[in-house]
Amino acid sequence: MALTQLIAYNSTIIYSQMPMASTSSQLVDKYGRSVSYIRLSVTDRCDFRCSYCMAEEMTFLPREQVLSLEECLRLARTFVGLGVTKIRITGGEPLVRKNILWLLEQLGALEGLKELVLTTNGSQLEKMAKDIRAAGVKRVNISLDSLNPERFKALTRVGDLSKVLRGIHSAQSAGFAGIKLNCVMLRGVNGDELVDLVQFALDQELDISFIEEMPLGEVDHVRANTYFSQDEALPLLQERFNLVSSAETTGGPARYWRIPGAKTKVGFISPHSHNFCESCNRVRITCTGELYPCLGQNDAVSLLPVLRAYPEDDAPLRKSIIEAMGIKPKGHDFNVYLPTPKIVRFMSITGG
Ligand code: 5AD
Ligand code: SF4
Repeated sequence: MALTQLIAYNSTIIYSQMPMASTSSQLVDKYGRSVSYIRLSVTDRCDFRCSYCMAEEMTFLPREQVLSLEECLRLARTFVGLGVTKIRITGGEPLVRKNILWLLEQLGALEGLKELVLTTNGSQLEKMAKDIRAAGVKRVNISLDSLNPERFKALTRVGDLSKVLRGIHSAQSAGFAGIKLNCVMLRGVNGDELVDLVQFALDQELDISFIEEMPLGEVDHVRANTYFSQDEALPLLQERFNLVSSAETTGGPARYWRIPGAKTKVGFISPHSHNFCESCNRVRITCTGELYPCLGQNDAVSLLPVLRAYPEDDAPLRKSIIEAMGIKPKGHDFNVYLPTPKIVRFMSITGG
């Protein structure tokens, strides 16, 4: 069915014939994809230094360049007003942001927001899981790349595995359902642990997604050497588990497999081997208020000047957001074989 929809294209509002979008979001890009999901980074800071995400020595942003919590809320409210129904709070590590619970509570109470979810490294969950759930966060994704304490420490450069495991248990005790572990697959680092990680997820009745490393920011390893693809991982897991491909989707890039009789869902996020851009429903907001329509491209619109120039009037902000949909590219073109990454910003800047 065709529907006349208002879309933004090259900063000009035009009308276009396109297939009816699946949600009532006013945010539709020039390829007809409806944006109903934002990932909002609330800080570039983190208490870990994962080798695939950050350089060992990081210079963090000065505070005045970072969105205040009130600005985060105003942005979120504006997006929800435009039809966004799901918000993921990310970072950096979102739980190291001072007063983050205040923001989560405000977002949890936002009318029209159906899903408030969070991505975390788990380091603060032991003490915060209960409060996060009470604030209205529906689900948490927790990064877990290794179950070996020394390896975990080496990978995160500072992280304490036992603390993260206690954090996972606190999230379970707090009553979170659908807790998902995220594991970035790295050859020569954790490629031999994928079976153990799935077994851990099964034992704990958690979901798990394996992610192909994306070339974001310059790191101290050669990504072409550490690249570990879904096509290599899946047969490895199939030797041990009866993985049955599933058609289910959470509206995101992950493809899922089930193990009959188990609660655990095993997912793969495979930007290199199995592109997923066609069904993309999201945009990212950095902690400096840059709207990135795609994680894998450099195009962005800066919302911070609009936010600060019009503190009492949301109309210019709404206009900028709608217009930004016009620069959402068709997809990423990640290439792990380039000597230097095309995207110079780290995941901690754009938000994972
Ligand atoms: N490639 C893939 N995943 C990454 N993450 C951080 N940097 C990268 C990268 N370069 C992941 C983290 C976390 C999520 C927020 O993003 O492991 O699970
Ligand atoms: Fe921190 Fe997550 Fe980046 Fe690791 S991947 S350094 S936990 S933001």
